Amino acid sequence: MANNSKIWKGNWTFILAAAGSAVGLGNIWKFPYMAGENGGGAFVIIYLTCIVLIGFPVMMSEIFLGKYGRSSPVYTMKKFVSLKGISSYWVLLGWFGALAGLMILSYYSVFAGISLAYIFSPIPTDSLNPSQYSVDFFAQFQSSPMRMIFWHSLFLILTCFIVAKGVVDGIGATIKIIMPTLFFLIILLSIYSSFTGEIGKAISFLFMPDFSKISSSVIISAMGQAFFTLSLGMGAIMAYGAYIPEEQNLTKTVSLIIFLDTFVAIIAGIIIFPIVFANPELTPTAGPSLFFETLPVAFYGIPFSFFASALFFILVSLAALSSSVSLIEPSTAWMEDRFKISRTYAVTILGSIAWLLGLGSLFSFNLIAEFQIFSMSFLDFMDFLTNSIMLPLGGLFIALLVGWILSENFVKEEMKIKNELYWKIWINLTRYVAPILIGLVFIFALF
Ligand code: PFF
Repeated sequence: MANNSKIWKGNWTFILAAAGSAVGLGNIWKFPYMAGENGGGAFVIIYLTCIVLIGFPVMMSEIFLGKYGRSSPVYTMKKFVSLKGISSYWVLLGWFGALAGLMILSYYSVFAGISLAYIFSPIPTDSLNPSQYSVDFFAQFQSSPMRMIFWHSLFLILTCFIVAKGVVDGIGATIKIIMPTLFFLIILLSIYSSFTGEIGKAISFLFMPDFSKISSSVIISAMGQAFFTLSLGMGAIMAYGAYIPEEQNLTKTVSLIIFLDTFVAIIAGIIIFPIVFANPELTPTAGPSLFFETLPVAFYGIPFSFFASALFFILVSLAALSSSVSLIEPSTAWMEDRFKISRTYAVTILGSIAWLLGLGSLFSFNLIAEFQIFSMSFLDFMDFLTNSIMLPLGGLFIALLVGWILSENFVKEEMKIKNELYWKIWINLTRYVAPILIGLVFIFALF
């Protein structure tokens, strides 16, 4: 149970921790490649619509649940069962989230491990064709399972180390330094990339929607990405909400987190696409490799490129770390409460499970590249199952619980929303708009 020593100190710590969870590889690595694979502007518009109409009410709901429960998501649900008389099946929602978190962490750490490795791998200054060098380097990197296992393991060990120390002390302090520096650097890089690359083509690719590109798979990917990038649907934000100060204004907090997250994603696109369009060896549809092939090119040729590139990948790894801790926090908090064991013990067991599962995704690059489940590689299958199915499903049930199952008066009072018009908008988003949109996307995409 959260006690007072476990309440975030000051309003900013919660905002930074939640923004730390939200801003991660999903913004810098995943958003640009998903936009690239799914036709650019059309994807971006659907993504932004999902952020506003679904992400906003679901994030408010998650924090509200966590704040009331003041505990891990599983125990928070148990509290609602005992105090509010809801069906005990709702506890499954907590379990389901913990499972989704471990599944995401398993492959998240593979990519975060690559970012760690890239701290030490800038393009040599005497390279004759930097973009070709970069493509070849990544191809070589992914063909070496041992090398990838090393970095995957290192990243997971770092994650478990921080979580073992406790989220409030472990993360609260570091995040205050990481986030501002990361913002500063990506803005600097986006300016550099705009001047040296094809900014015009990049902007029209990202913002001019070609509606002929919209298909059910684009829609489901955009919605999945909206959940993933905001860390919603699996209890991460709920677990953090358990530590939010009593009087903190939820609407302002959530708006700021969403703004920061969206801003970083768009800026990441503005760093990457001008470079893609300026270099014939690079293509916007490259998929997960896009980030690792284009970023080193961005650094190539700028003064002190070795230093700048190392600093950037350190920050990306730190941003990934502030997200990965929130992926394992819900299950750790639950194990700690359930079995009365230390955090260190709990996180060691859970980290080992994520590590093992991660090997499946890691080998999808090399040893089992041919292996397919429903015509997807193991990695793509894990990604699809978690982001496109599990997170939206979790979000759907969270919205249903807050919108329909709990009493309106209770929610309104706890949320401390005074303005009637705003309340009407909010409750209607939660009750109708978000669940119907999620339901429709599922229906169109799956049948
Ligand atoms: N939001 C993180 C990112 O964009 O990298 C990933 C993530 C963290 C997803 C925590 C889900 C989660 F619960």
